[in-house]
Amino acid sequence: MDRIESISARKILDSRGNPTVEVEVRGGKGVGRAAAPGGASRGKHEVIAFPPGGVEVSIRLLEETVRPALVGEELDFKRVDTVLRELDGTSNFAKIGGNLAVAISMATAKASASSRGLPLFRCLGEGVVCIPFPLGNVLGGGAHAGRNAPDIQEFLIIPVGAKKFIDAAFANARVHRRVREYLEFEDERFSGGKGDEGAWAPNLDNSKALEVVVRACEEISGEVGFQIRPGLDVAASELYDERRGKYVYSREGVTRDGGEQVDYVVDLIRTYKLFYVEDPLHQEDFKGFSELTSKVGDRCLVCGDDLFVTNVDRIRRGVEEGAANAVIVKPNQVGTLSGTSAAIGLAKRNGWLPVMSHRSGETTDETISHLAVGWGCPIIKTGVVGGERIAKLNELIRIEEELGEKAGMAKLQNI
Ligand code: PGA
Ligand code: ZN
Repeated sequence: MDRIESISARKILDSRGNPTVEVEVRGGKGVGRAAAPGGASRGKHEVIAFPPGGVEVSIRLLEETVRPALVGEELDFKRVDTVLRELDGTSNFAKIGGNLAVAISMATAKASASSRGLPLFRCLGEGVVCIPFPLGNVLGGGAHAGRNAPDIQEFLIIPVGAKKFIDAAFANARVHRRVREYLEFEDERFSGGKGDEGAWAPNLDNSKALEVVVRACEEISGEVGFQIRPGLDVAASELYDERRGKYVYSREGVTRDGGEQVDYVVDLIRTYKLFYVEDPLHQEDFKGFSELTSKVGDRCLVCGDDLFVTNVDRIRRGVEEGAANAVIVKPNQVGTLSGTSAAIGLAKRNGWLPVMSHRSGETTDETISHLAVGWGCPIIKTGVVGGERIAKLNELIRIEEELGEKAGMAKLQNI
């Protein structure tokens, strides 16, 4: 077994210009580099990204306590994760920061793969390799966009009929372009502004925005010859006013209580034939999620992000309560690759669909592409355009090419 010879960290920029951490690990004949992303609509139950004082404090702790403990250890992310959890000593990485932890974990896995002369996706231990479908954001609002944009955070598309990843990725890009054309038509003052993930941020309400996206999906589906379906990330915790117990749609001047919110989302799913809905209810509302899933779970993926935060205890509770049929997987919500893999395994064993995901503040790190392939996530949510988004998409194009004849798109459940 190779051993860790050196480990270092630096402060780098994320796509919003905020500081984040990048880690380099060396061992055996290999070197691995990985960076952690940052969220804008973070779940309350996620691990802490950085301790008070920010990235500099994480880096100082790496130098003072983490590095001495890890140099000489096995070059194996599982072992490293155990040491990190012991060193940190809290349940949520409050001391060293989950972003430092996850960057070390990912850099270790990449260094180990590099030492073996293999791409990371081949070293994750699952025999079956399949390519995920790209789920991407073409229009957005909420916490990811400026004034006057829709209240709903993300209007998503997924090319469910694609036979190859490269065709899927380009189909999404075509929809993104067509959506812009429609927006220019709908609003002569549309300036071409985009939100944090490269999705257009127009001055439209939710239903008008959905109509535009659905029409673009239908048209491009006809042109490319396979089906592209719409979806949403409501990011409902961002709309929820705890004090009033209501969802506040400020652009539309409407409030909805929990029951009205369920009815509203059911109506959107039925009217627009949505394939996917993420965070339709706020992050504590397991009951509302269960109600919605029992109503529409046979025709739509109901996915929890802030509800589950890639945490096995919360996913287990969700499974017991029938709260969803899909789960967002963000490695930095849990702080380790071991935790990430456990969340995916638990979801799959219970017939849930794991969706590997980027964050709104990203870097050009492409690790999640390998995790999605190697751990068999049938969907990857990683935007459509923009350097930090295409870093993941282009890596999947390379992986598909490398797999050649053996490459096959994942199976989506019977939605
Ligand atoms: P983030 O969330 O801004 O916290 O990355 C994106 C999402 O809600 O999926
Ligand atoms: Zn989300």
